[in-house]
Amino acid sequence: MKIISRELERFEKFLFSSTKTTVPFIGNVSRYVMEAGGKRIRPALVILSSKICGYSGKRAIAYAAVIELIHTATLLHDDVLDNAKLRRGRPSVNHLWGNEPCVLIGDFFYSKAVEIMGKDGDKELIRIVSRATTEVAKGEILEILKTGDLTVDEREYFEIIGSKTAALFSAACEIGAVLANKERKTREALKKFGENIGLAFQLTDDALDYISTDRSLGKKVGTDLKEKKVTLPLIKALKAASLQEKRMVEEIFEKKRVTSQDFYKVKDFIERKGGFKYTYEVAKRFIEEGKDLLVSISPSPHKNTLLKLSDDILTRKS
Ligand code: IPE
Ligand code: IPE
Ligand code: MG
Ligand code: MG
Repeated sequence: MKIISRELERFEKFLFSSTKTTVPFIGNVSRYVMEAGGKRIRPALVILSSKICGYSGKRAIAYAAVIELIHTATLLHDDVLDNAKLRRGRPSVNHLWGNEPCVLIGDFFYSKAVEIMGKDGDKELIRIVSRATTEVAKGEILEILKTGDLTVDEREYFEIIGSKTAALFSAACEIGAVLANKERKTREALKKFGENIGLAFQLTDDALDYISTDRSLGKKVGTDLKEKKVTLPLIKALKAASLQEKRMVEEIFEKKRVTSQDFYKVKDFIERKGGFKYTYEVAKRFIEEGKDLLVSISPSPHKNTLLKLSDDILTRKS
């Protein structure tokens, strides 16, 4: 992402300075999470979509930070829900400091994001971001309600990931068009584009949760099964399962503790039924459809970077 390296540097500075407080603990934990990196895909989306719409000002930096703060807050909260021990290649905040500080630092990040937006003062952007944040919360709630439920179907699955993941991607991209004062048509196109690549991003995340490694992901593989989260690879496999195979999965879902042997059994079952292949096919369709939505935006190096970023979602390893 060389083409926006200057903007990303400014974004990092902004992000770090935004979490400064008089309470050293907050600064320390914030730095711990932020320094671990993360792919910064959402801030890149804010910057690139504003660029392709012709906006180059500094508000894109502030909004990139707003989106990353909200994203990081959801990760902190999500790790509490998922009992996660590893995040961004490091022991997770909940694991190191406990659930309570972890939830509160998440709240702190949310509030910081609101504070930055309030200072900017754009009502329309506040509307877009706050709606997306509500969607994310709704999606995470819906997901916990569906925990352990093997009857979850594709429609319910897409409702969950559309909210918990795609909504923020969508907002990140729409912000760019709003900053550039683009007409409705371009705004809608970027909004829908963001939604599409966000869905693809979660689809690949859900496949990687089975097929990747802790080292490459920087988080624990197998968490979805361990936490009894039913995702598309499994939904697809179950659709084609024999009674005996269904029973095998049900038995594992009834267990209090999922062993690594259970994990490999389920992984192998999904693989045999083409669950991973299907998940990647669906993700690819969303990426293609997303890119097509940008046809009316004039070609530029920034646009090429955005298209490349979209394609990279399908081959990502981390
Ligand atoms: C993780 O997002 C949460 C999902 C939506 C799957 P990222 O994979 O973008 O997390 P970081 O920011 O790179 O750590
Ligand atoms: C949660 O999805 C995504 C959020 C919106 C926080 P996951 O639970 O799959 O995210 P990871 O795998 O923990 O990053
Ligand atoms: Mg999680
Ligand atoms: Mg995941």
